[in-house]
Amino acid sequence: MQKIAVLTSGGDAPGMNAAIRAVVRTALYHQLEVYGIERGFAGLCSGSALRRFTINSVAGIIHRGGTILHTARAPGFEQREVQVAAARRLREAGIGGLVVIGGGGSFCGAAALQELGIQTVGLPATIDHDIPGTDGAVGFDTTVNTILDAINRLRDTATAHERIFVVEVMGRESGFIALAAGMAGGAEAIIVPEVKPDLEGICRRLQEGIARRKTHSLILVAEGAAGAYAVGEEVHRKTGLETRVTVLGHIQRGGSPTAADRLLASRMGAAAVELLRSDTGGQMLSLKGGEITAAPLQTGTAGRRAFPQDLYALSLILAR
Ligand code: F6P
Repeated sequence: MQKIAVLTSGGDAPGMNAAIRAVVRTALYHQLEVYGIERGFAGLCSGSALRRFTINSVAGIIHRGGTILHTARAPGFEQREVQVAAARRLREAGIGGLVVIGGGGSFCGAAALQELGIQTVGLPATIDHDIPGTDGAVGFDTTVNTILDAINRLRDTATAHERIFVVEVMGRESGFIALAAGMAGGAEAIIVPEVKPDLEGICRRLQEGIARRKTHSLILVAEGAAGAYAVGEEVHRKTGLETRVTVLGHIQRGGSPTAADRLLASRMGAAAVELLRSDTGGQMLSLKGGEITAAPLQTGTAGRRAFPQDLYALSLILAR
């Protein structure tokens, strides 16, 4: 294999640029030609130019959020004729290997191209961290830290006014972000789609806290579980306590990646190129026991990532 390409797809995640950099620099180190495809699968289909990368193309990007290749959601890529045209385009450009940086949906596109003869490797990058088969996804750590920063600020004003704050975080249908940020931020309650919410119990605990002279409380709500405004109103109705709601939104996706995300992205980016050099496509990278390993792409597309119920149980013990 002489030429490979890289694209970013789906929602952006902090650390995608670090991953692109690692792919490019590792490929060039091994004397491969490496190209960037702009706007993900959508760009591949609509004919976005293939950008040939040099060692300088990826200078000064390791610390930047977003993705220099831009990204897009490409629902049309589910159609077979679109996939066939995309594979043909890559083949005509002499590209035999592709690194797809993105989430589970992007891995479905990657698996389709693999079936059509393009060696493809998926690199997990999603703030939601909902891809089965890996203990790490690029972007998650940064997002959790961004939320912690917001929580710290909200606590100041919550304490000043002795209010309850309800904070809604992203995560699509999963509660991994809410659980991690809620536990690390010391939230009094965490509401996730994977666990039936017990609003009565939450209200009781809030009132017990206030009886112990707690000056503030924070409820973290995953967007896939409930609307934060509805939770805020319900808590107010049941307890009479003053509530305020903050929906953090896309602030959670931006910003400079943490060291952990930069390192993970760098290790996975290099590992992706090594897989392609050994003609091993149809794989996703995975963090297991601290090591970067590979698993079939289907590992990341079938089923849902298991929710850590034990950690959730611990969060209930610690949140008092
Ligand atoms: O998958 C990442 C994510 O940020 C989800 O947490 C969120 O539900 C979704 O993307 C938002 O997508 P968009 O940026 O297309 O509105």
